[in-house]
Amino acid sequence: MNIIVCKNYEEMSQHGAQMIASLVKEKPSCVLGLATGSTPEGMYAALVEMCKKGELSFKDVTSVNLDEYYPIDPANDQSYRYFMNHQLFDHIDIDKANTNVPDGTAADPVAECKRYEQLVTDLGGIDIQILGIGRNGHIGFNEPDTKLMLDTHVTDLTEDTIEANARFFASANDVPRRALTMGIGTIFKAKKIVIMASGASKRDAVSAMLERTIDTSFPATMLNLHPDVTLICTADVLD
Ligand code: GLP
Repeated sequence: MNIIVCKNYEEMSQHGAQMIASLVKEKPSCVLGLATGSTPEGMYAALVEMCKKGELSFKDVTSVNLDEYYPIDPANDQSYRYFMNHQLFDHIDIDKANTNVPDGTAADPVAECKRYEQLVTDLGGIDIQILGIGRNGHIGFNEPDTKLMLDTHVTDLTEDTIEANARFFASANDVPRRALTMGIGTIFKAKKIVIMASGASKRDAVSAMLERTIDTSFPATMLNLHPDVTLICTADVLD
């Protein structure tokens, strides 16, 4: 795993944005795998800035997001579709029809996961997949378990994740108990993976990932099996 240590959140965000910008310039019709959470917000802001200055265009880009709560309406300000529209898509020149987030309103969530998996396959995989890391080592919503799923699937959220994400909702009771998420195999369809982490609260999770062991109870350790993974983190994550 390549490791890039940045002095602060701003530098980490700029670094992530530059990696995406270089790819988009080199391959205007690339497929971006995107993530939600507080970690990539600064990177999205930097990309919006580049686009507004006319330095970058997303007009031929396709995006696929990692995950979505289930059930949730896209108009709910805690849905990942809402997050992506507000943080990025509404402010850049991407064609919204080419932005994909699992459908949190699907009547049949299992069928929706199948459709999403096929979509990633039909796109020919992902050029660069951005990831954050959960405190419990989850990537996307691949939660710690004795088995990890390869394909996009419906998952129950762990109490730890519900508690960690409750800060965004009115209360922990409002956090949906399930989610639709790319599986480890879907994520591994990416040619390049960039995992971002900032702040001391991610220290334990990142150090477990860097142990170079494989443990399904710590899903981020799976990334040690992928040939092209870069960790971009702030210095305090490695203290
Ligand atoms: C969420 C998301 C993940 C994200 C993680 C970390 O639950 N499903 O994709 O990476 O938790 O979030 P944050 O960046 O806010 O720490």
